[in-house]
Amino acid sequence: MLRPLNTAVCQLQPSGIRRINMLAARRGDCIPLALGEPDFDTPRAISDEVVAALDRGETHYPPNNGTRELRSALSSYMEQQGLAYKPEEIALTAGATEAITATFLAMLEPGDEVIIPVPAFTLYEASVRLCRGVPVLLDTSRNGFQIDEASLRALVTDATKAIIICTPGNPTGCLLDAASIDAIAAVAQEFGLYVIADDVYNRLVYTDGYERFALRHPELRDRTVVIDSFSKPWAMTGWRLGWFAADAPVFAQIAKAHQYTISSVPAFTMSAAIRALKTDPAPMLDIYRARRDRVLRALDTMGLSPAVVPQGAFYVFLPVTEVTGIDSQEFCERAIEEAGVGLVPGECFGTPGFARLSYCVADDALDEGLRRLERFVRGL
Ligand SMILES: Cc1ncc(COP(=O)(O)O)c(C=O)c1O
Repeated sequence: MLRPLNTAVCQLQPSGIRRINMLAARRGDCIPLALGEPDFDTPRAISDEVVAALDRGETHYPPNNGTRELRSALSSYMEQQGLAYKPEEIALTAGATEAITATFLAMLEPGDEVIIPVPAFTLYEASVRLCRGVPVLLDTSRNGFQIDEASLRALVTDATKAIIICTPGNPTGCLLDAASIDAIAAVAQEFGLYVIADDVYNRLVYTDGYERFALRHPELRDRTVVIDSFSKPWAMTGWRLGWFAADAPVFAQIAKAHQYTISSVPAFTMSAAIRALKTDPAPMLDIYRARRDRVLRALDTMGLSPAVVPQGAFYVFLPVTEVTGIDSQEFCERAIEEAGVGLVPGECFGTPGFARLSYCVADDALDEGLRRLERFVRGL
């Protein structure tokens, strides 16, 4: 008899978003307000750099952590944001996705716990499990998607190793306020925990008062891992380019996890990445902001406004069960089948009762999707 494959991997379920996408594909004419990626193409000037790099013969194995030029450019870029990381403390990864998994690989012993405030990006839980850790969920949905220090503290055990946070958040678009960031810092300080700051949406913020963990708590540099990505600000999801930055001792271990899994990102993308860092994503941000306002106006008329106005990213998290009395999985499935509009159920992010609406579609499609949603909600 064949011996079993790894239990942690076998027990992982395919993402619920896949099921929603399949249903939407089956219906054919569905307006996809379920997408988690920019609808824009990568700016031409960035893509052109790849052609030039290929012409220069940049087709050989590059340094594992990225070229010196790109790591220096990232160090300067982060410095402009107020974050002091030397080029030797920064490595390029296959998107933020790989940076997150490499971080858990480097941190977790089997059975170590990672606190994940939910709703959260689906990958966190799966990645912790892949690395033989135990996800511990902190429900923030009844606290305006903010972190309550006492609730956080109550989840810490001898096995707790890290907390992962994301602001602006996926799926809420909400910003963690200063009190939340300080609560995480206090608990991390007291119990010797690592803080993984998934900052992939840090360039997509619509208001003042944005607090980044590493910026607000530089004294916790020894335990902070900053994760960022080219995917969202520069519409480069298909490039699979991200990075992490950490204090040298922590960096060295994560970099090994990266080296022995992915080895490096493609050589011929690195000069394009430098070009991206010099490209201002503000024009896309302006479009997202206008779409967000359009979505909020429409939701208001259908009585489906979010409890907290999203201040970043490109998502709105709708309280569908509270408003309609319908289970969120059923709401999303019926919205596809009966109305032809795709949303992602809160179950996919650890908080049933909600649905994520993403405004990564052009205005015409967005308006039509919102009209369909309104008809659907009124017909319930
Ligand atoms: C919060 C969050 N972190 C990380 C990622 C992964 O990004 P990347 O494309 O850089 O792997 C996503 C993608 O949707 C995300 O929403």
